[in-house]
Amino acid sequence: MQVLSAASEVYPLVKTGGLADVTGALPKALTSYGVDTRTVMPGYAGTLEKVVDVRHEANVELLGEAAKFYSGRHDGIDVIIVDCPVLFHRDGGPYLDREGGDYSDNWRRFAALSSATAQIAGNGLRGWRPDIVHLHDWQSGLAAAYLKAIGAPVPVVLSIHNLAFQGQFSPEVFSELQLPGEFFSTEKLEYYGGVSFLKAGIALADAVTTVSPTYAREILTEDLGMGLQGVLSTRRDNLTGIVNGIDMNVWNPATDPYIPANYDSRTIGRRAANRAKLEERFGVEQGIGPIMSVVSRLTWQKGIDLLMPVIPGIVDRGGKLVVYGQGDPALIHPLIEESWRYPGKVIVHVGFSEADAHLLHAGSDIVIQPSRFEPCGLTQLYALRYGAIPIVARTGGLAETIIDANEAAMAARVATGFQFQPGSVEDLYHAIDRALIGFNRPSFWRRLQTQAMKADFSWTRSAGRYAELYSSLLDGRPPRAELFENRAAVVVNQIENFPAARGHFVASARSFRASSHGRSRVNCVHNTASG
Ligand code: ADP
Ligand code: GLC
Repeated sequence: MQVLSAASEVYPLVKTGGLADVTGALPKALTSYGVDTRTVMPGYAGTLEKVVDVRHEANVELLGEAAKFYSGRHDGIDVIIVDCPVLFHRDGGPYLDREGGDYSDNWRRFAALSSATAQIAGNGLRGWRPDIVHLHDWQSGLAAAYLKAIGAPVPVVLSIHNLAFQGQFSPEVFSELQLPGEFFSTEKLEYYGGVSFLKAGIALADAVTTVSPTYAREILTEDLGMGLQGVLSTRRDNLTGIVNGIDMNVWNPATDPYIPANYDSRTIGRRAANRAKLEERFGVEQGIGPIMSVVSRLTWQKGIDLLMPVIPGIVDRGGKLVVYGQGDPALIHPLIEESWRYPGKVIVHVGFSEADAHLLHAGSDIVIQPSRFEPCGLTQLYALRYGAIPIVARTGGLAETIIDANEAAMAARVATGFQFQPGSVEDLYHAIDRALIGFNRPSFWRRLQTQAMKADFSWTRSAGRYAELYSSLLDGRPPRAELFENRAAVVVNQIENFPAARGHFVASARSFRASSHGRSRVNCVHNTASG
């Protein structure tokens, strides 16, 4: 089966977040299911230069701009680069200028990517034609409209990685999109009088996926539907949640070239050398207290403001905090000021490199992810693999990939981290408190680390789900709606990651629930509520 994947970022060519990790890893994982993927993406400044075996494929026109398609390979994936310097060669990042503002012509840039996708799928590329088109997020969402407009029969999958980004533009842009007038309608891409690229994808794709079953349910609600819950509800029968995996080769502490000491679950003691390197790199005071890190886009979604009130408590209890990433200055500045009060104990580092991200996972004791909402989240999965214990908000993919270290889960040897109520400072502090108590009990902590490192979030199973979805579309079968397999699916997902513990965990968690009083134990009820 041949798939054309379309994305605005692909690791390691261009990355601003987890989307790139997914679009870079999924094609490789799909090969073992007999799926060959080619990924179409913009040629940003310097992108084409990184690609090998480059071949000029076609000269085309995208929204009136002359462009070229080049095929080639990079790091094990086949890419088709849309070369249109006037649209894609810019000083800043893929979406934002150097001052952090959106490029004013983003609608044109990503309509061009979408049009390119439709042209490749519709006309083929030197005889190559995809059986399926797989779009990722709003930046390629409009391809579903272009494909409908040319009547291409190829089935389209749209994956939503984050509903907060919708590609909404003023109605005036419609006349420039080169789509038939009837597409400016509520059934297609009109959204409250304007144009929404994501809505176009949701409305017109044959199947819509998002990156965890929990988030698939959440986006149908007013709370997390971000205004699109109504449109999504109309696609309910074609909406599935498939949890992300991680690239087990890129994120492998046993072979990671970015860290000074390689290790696995039997040699966790070697993490000490990585912690020492982390202390040196970020100026963290040496000592026995746990190092807690936040490696994230520093934005409201990620709950970064919730950290401010818990800092004094962390420091008083002997912990240290490293906040690492880039994002909203209004959230970063207060944190920087707070860090001045605690030199060596609270570090705020604005910037991002893959090397630092790997070191932070390999050397930190705890990784905190206080997201207000989180479609899937990859950082907590990297933390698991590296034996850094995650403290996560109980939302989206975080809720279903981390098993809270309550008594039942510890007894069943399946716990992997700590959960708290999203948005609650009090509950975050409570989770940090529980983690600190656990950290001071070496045998408990070692067991938790071992369990975390054994959790399997490789792409194998989830890539199989995508392959199955593609096949069902080709056969004209309805996609299997894991989304509505009820909450038990969440439990099963968790238990399936720990096959040895199945049965035992559910049984002990149930009996534990019956005698549960403490708030931390709510997780136990959540994990097994309808199991
Ligand atoms: P999201 O995609 O919402 O940021 P994920 O947890 O899915 O969250 O993925 C985060 C990925 O992005 C990780 O690989 C992380 O190391 C990386 N990352 C975090 N901050 C940045 C940044 N400023 N630039 C590039 N990558 C980043
Ligand atoms: C988005 C989401 C994140 C998810 C990532 C990859 O950026 O915010 O939760 O893990 O996409 O799917």
